[in-house]
Amino acid sequence: MKGRSSGLARLAVLISGRGSNLQSIIDSIAAGGIDPTIAVGVSNRADAPGLKRARDAGIEAIHVNPRDHADRDAYDRAVADLLLAREVTLVCLAGYMRLVGQPILEAFPQRILNIHPSLLPAFPGLDAQRQALVHGAQVTGATVHLVTNELDGGPIVLQAAVPVLADDTSDTLSARILAQEHRIYPEAIRIVLERRWKIEGRRFVREGSS
Ligand code: GRF
Repeated sequence: MKGRSSGLARLAVLISGRGSNLQSIIDSIAAGGIDPTIAVGVSNRADAPGLKRARDAGIEAIHVNPRDHADRDAYDRAVADLLLAREVTLVCLAGYMRLVGQPILEAFPQRILNIHPSLLPAFPGLDAQRQALVHGAQVTGATVHLVTNELDGGPIVLQAAVPVLADDTSDTLSARILAQEHRIYPEAIRIVLERRWKIEGRRFVREGSS
């Protein structure tokens, strides 16, 4: 598909905590950098500070409590139904600390993004910044990828590298990575919404690139 097709895009942003990536998406939309609407923010935690960020920006913000649902499947069914009811077209995980199960994956095929604080496929899973330090990696970074049923294993949309410095702690390294996350997540959303891409095997291939 040619040209801009993101005008009608309706995002959902799923969070569990701070929500600084949610904020970067809000800010990018406000600054005209990308042009979707955020239809809803969803958190599995009632105390997620990101819920307030959404509300402060005039975005509907919903806590979906896992305790109100019999199991993971029922929870994901409820989240999927909530997103479908709001005509969401792209789901953005931003510090969402739950595995996304089949009900959500099936409702939004190739329409779920995640941001991860490493250069995937290095250091998937929890504590990616600490993993980089433990391994003595000299370079790490951030990755935006499409979500599949493989944890942090979906096609890579966009990455940014950062150096690991000799005196880095998990906090200093996380802060350096986070600055790049805030830059590349809105950009990855823009790329995905342009729809000028296809999936080849594991790869996200943009039109015009080889
Ligand atoms: C980020 O480091 C992101 O890469 C990871 O969780 C953190 C979320 O931070 N998945 P925030 O809630 O967006 O501030």
